[in-house]
Amino acid sequence: DAPVIVVLDGPAGTGKSTVSREIATRLGLSFLDTGAMYRAMTYWLLQNGVDVDDAEAVANASAKPVILSGTDADGPTITVDGVDVSGPIRGPEVTAAVSAVSAVPEVRTRLVDLQRGSAAAAPRGIVAEGRDMGTVVFPEADLKVFLTASATTRATRRAAQLGVADPAGVAAILADIERRDAADSGRATSPLAKADDAIEVDTSEMDPEEVIGHILGLVRQRA
Ligand code: C5P
Repeated sequence: DAPVIVVLDGPAGTGKSTVSREIATRLGLSFLDTGAMYRAMTYWLLQNGVDVDDAEAVANASAKPVILSGTDADGPTITVDGVDVSGPIRGPEVTAAVSAVSAVPEVRTRLVDLQRGSAAAAPRGIVAEGRDMGTVVFPEADLKVFLTASATTRATRRAAQLGVADPAGVAAILADIERRDAADSGRATSPLAKADDAIEVDTSEMDPEEVIGHILGLVRQRA
């Protein structure tokens, strides 16, 4: 069989990561979390004292870190200059800075090259998740899914993931999600957008298993 490319795009908190990883595992495909790559770049810039709001400084530094994204669906790892950064890239400092970094065209060009390389090296194909997989990185994908969910649902899910229970904490997470969505959707280069040929799935009222089942059905229809 020819390698297959399945892409999932959408804003934060739609269940993209859980769902795409599980689909890759069940189909025996490789898996690529492209948000982790933008986070790893951001982490390196912060560690190296680069002002992330200075687009020129970010552009100039963007070729320096060696970012390696594992594509094993069971335990994807991400390293920067040989150090596993899977933990720190989820921290609040990186989350706050990543939208600014990912708006810089030089950053995107570099990471998109790496993303296409990963797909080309995947023996049976790949499930790739992000914001611009269907529109920019893999326009030729066999199946494009665009996940959505209400902002409240997304904040509640993210809060549960982070172990936050108090209303003020949930409200802060919601504000952060809305800020990041606006930045990701409004940027000039490769904004978060649904590809014309993507299938939209609203996951507000679905649990992960339902979403996975639905998407596996879509894959079978395409096969
Ligand atoms: O998916 P995740 O929340 O980890 O993504 C972090 C950030 O990386 C997003 O808010 C977005 O700014 C950026 N990103 C992107 N393009 C992608 C994936 C992520 O710009 N393909």
